Amino acid sequence: MSFFLLLLLLPLFFTIFIFTILLKHIWIPLRIQLHFHQQGITGPAYRPIFFGNSAGIRRRMIAEAELSRPVSFSHERVVERVMPHYYNWSKVHGDPFLYWFGSNARLAVSDPDMIKEILVSKSGSFGKIRFNPVSKGLFGEGLVGLEGERWVVHRRIASQAFNMERVKDWVPEIVDSTRNMMIKWDANIEEATNNSELEFDVHREFHQLSADIISRTAFGSNFSEGKRIFELQEQQIVLVLQSLRNVYIPGFRFLPTKRNMTMWKLEQETTELVRNMIEKNKSAKQNSTTLLATLISPSKIDDTLDLKEIVDECKTFYFAGKETTANLLTWTFLLLGLHQEWQDKAREEVDRVCGQNAFPCSDDLADLKIVTMILNETLRLYPPAVMLMRQASQNVRLVGRLDVPAGTQLFLAMTAVHHDANIWGEDANVFNPMRFLEPRNHLASFFPFGLGPRVCVGQNLAIVEAKIVLAMIVGRYSFAVSPTYVHAPMQSLTLQPQYGAQMIFSRRS
Ligand code: HEM
Repeated sequence: MSFFLLLLLLPLFFTIFIFTILLKHIWIPLRIQLHFHQQGITGPAYRPIFFGNSAGIRRRMIAEAELSRPVSFSHERVVERVMPHYYNWSKVHGDPFLYWFGSNARLAVSDPDMIKEILVSKSGSFGKIRFNPVSKGLFGEGLVGLEGERWVVHRRIASQAFNMERVKDWVPEIVDSTRNMMIKWDANIEEATNNSELEFDVHREFHQLSADIISRTAFGSNFSEGKRIFELQEQQIVLVLQSLRNVYIPGFRFLPTKRNMTMWKLEQETTELVRNMIEKNKSAKQNSTTLLATLISPSKIDDTLDLKEIVDECKTFYFAGKETTANLLTWTFLLLGLHQEWQDKAREEVDRVCGQNAFPCSDDLADLKIVTMILNETLRLYPPAVMLMRQASQNVRLVGRLDVPAGTQLFLAMTAVHHDANIWGEDANVFNPMRFLEPRNHLASFFPFGLGPRVCVGQNLAIVEAKIVLAMIVGRYSFAVSPTYVHAPMQSLTLQPQYGAQMIFSRRS
């Protein structure tokens, strides 16, 4: 009986299935496309059979990034290399333009007025794009991906953890980590054949340094044990990136494949280690200023996080903080290696503010004005975050004329804004820190840390860390870009030099 009923219902299910597919993949996208066309917004046409333009975007981006021929070290081609789809389509269709990611409409935007509305004044109408469940392996359910009430609680705790006073307490730790790295460099320079200079990849060095610093700020005196957590996290990142390269199949992550089983094991070991750290921290929590201590005992009793939430935030801070800050340092040194006159200016300021031999202390930081301008100019030309994404949670009108339907995704082309000659002038692609001497005339013309309620919560740490590392190194070494360096900015989660950053260092006499 039930078999016959099933047989009768089968055509009905099939019809509903086909109807849903047609609705989602043909009717709705074509209607949205028409909606934007009527407002003068065009773009590469929606192609349901090929699942939109996503495959094309990815292929083109990879091809661009793999374009490894040595180009001169200048900054004109950054947008073209790190967001080739934006670069090509905006030339044909103008800006904003519409493109497709699967059946999701994406509006690419580089107008600072629109970006300001999306991130700041109308931020309530936009949310984060929902992550592929596999990428949650990188930062779990931490701050970066949370929304709503839980985000408010996590954000409050994180803001408390990263407030400037707290970050200043970490200065001795940052100095210590940097000093250890420099002791290693000195030993290597002494061992070098000519005993005066050494060539190495600063990108790798700054990644290790940044990991070390995050580990110290997160776990304080237990940082070497904490480092194990981040080593596991590093292995997890490799596996997650491998998974993300494949087409996402719902439920696949639960199958006991070799990769999945390794990921589960890493997850289990991470949780266990964090649990142990929490136990250790509980006794010392009263006067501890570590990130972990703040997560365990936030100032508001209602803000208590459970173990999984604490583990996820530890992952988030590592993931969001290590890569970005290491890349900022890498690009800063490459730029100062290229522009020796700015290296000299930075050195002169550091000598004046910090004294020739002493290490910087927290009171020096505000006086490092040239260093700050150099970091800003680096963040402008090589923003680690490259672009930001949002999704309209309701119908919304932008800049008084553009109606954006709920569900539309927004690609905020940060790197393009930072290189726009209409905003920055004819010399937009030139490294000129002097432009940061005057206050900027538009909030959304420069937003390497984002804007609005979701602005980077670790910004204070990133800037303090970058200032100290730069001050310490510039005070002790002279450096230049190696002839073996190949200039190939590439987006791989963050903006990185594709072939590393080979530089030549020598001790100052
Ligand atoms: C140069 C270094 C850094 C850059 C350029 C950077 C950039 C950004 C940007 C652009 C956002 C906003 C993302 C969005 O609106 O969608 C963001 C958010 C975030 N950043 Fe950073 N970041 C840096 C360093 C750090 C550090 C050191 C930490 C922590 C250790 C950190 C933790 C976070 C977190 C947790 C968020 C999410 C905040 C929220 O959604 O409420 N970042 N970052």
